[in-house]
Amino acid sequence: MLRIEQLTKTFGRNTAVDRATLQVERPMMIGVIGRSGAGKSTLLRMLNRLEEASSGTIHFEGRQVSGLEGRAKRAWQADCAMIFQQFNLVPRMDVVSNVLHGTLNRRSTLASLFNLYPQADIYRAIDILERLGIAEHAPKRAEALSGGQQQRVAIARALMQDPKIILADEPIASLDPMNAQVVMQTLRRIHEEDGRMVIANLHTLDTARRYCDRVVGMRDGRIVFDGTPAQLTLQIAREIYGADASFSEEATSTEIAALERGTGRPVPA
Ligand SMILES: Nc1ncnc2c1ncn2[C@@H]1O[C@H](COP(=O)(O)OP(=O)(O)OP(=O)(O)O)[C@@H](O)[C@H]1O
Ligand SMILES: [Mg+2]
Repeated sequence: MLRIEQLTKTFGRNTAVDRATLQVERPMMIGVIGRSGAGKSTLLRMLNRLEEASSGTIHFEGRQVSGLEGRAKRAWQADCAMIFQQFNLVPRMDVVSNVLHGTLNRRSTLASLFNLYPQADIYRAIDILERLGIAEHAPKRAEALSGGQQQRVAIARALMQDPKIILADEPIASLDPMNAQVVMQTLRRIHEEDGRMVIANLHTLDTARRYCDRVVGMRDGRIVFDGTPAQLTLQIAREIYGADASFSEEATSTEIAALERGTGRPVPA
């Protein structure tokens, strides 16, 4: 389904992603972990062509997407919607309009310019907001919502594109634990109910374990682990994050501590 081969990105003398190879046979929920600077964001950004690869290829459903240009490239970008840590909403615009922005690549410049949306799109936006449990906030400005609600608006905007893949770059890094849970559950639901592939960069090990079918570990630009959460042992986790085990993230160290005690589950905060 998705095949990444020898994907490499260099910035000057720095290799951000180093010959990453990955094959995904069916829509899965995949968590990408690794310490800061490991190349997680660069990998995701190359996938939807926000960043051009220095070398290597990306195939999706038998088609090489790494070489697409113009309209075909934009169509691919719509097929893999991106969600960011900072939500990237227009803060002073209402929630529905933010969601409708997800159809931007389908509308004419003139229609976008005057914020003219087909009635059908407006109904669909509200349906999606309802599905994500935030329809009551539809008329409010995005900035009036909590972080978790804003991230769900961003997910709704992504769903407007009807994407095949959702790429999430640290989707819960700015959220408190409660909101983080709601957002991860939302992504999981979209994966299970719609059969969409989700690839999420996650800064904590326990989140990847809890919500993902598959975990990809990156270190120094390379994919050093690719397996199920059960295969991700303490030893492997240490290798992914570095031998000195300087786990900057509290939840990650919590998870490691739990593993050391043999429970394999993080201790609730
Ligand atoms: N636009 C850029 N120009 C130069 N170097 C870059 C650029 N983007 C990323 N890098 C470098 O590439 C490497 C990988 O960065 P990337 O942002 O992909 O890591 P990451 O795993 O997402 O880290 P974090 O967990 O901090 O988000 C880093 O060394 C980074 O400094
Ligand atoms: Mg990053």
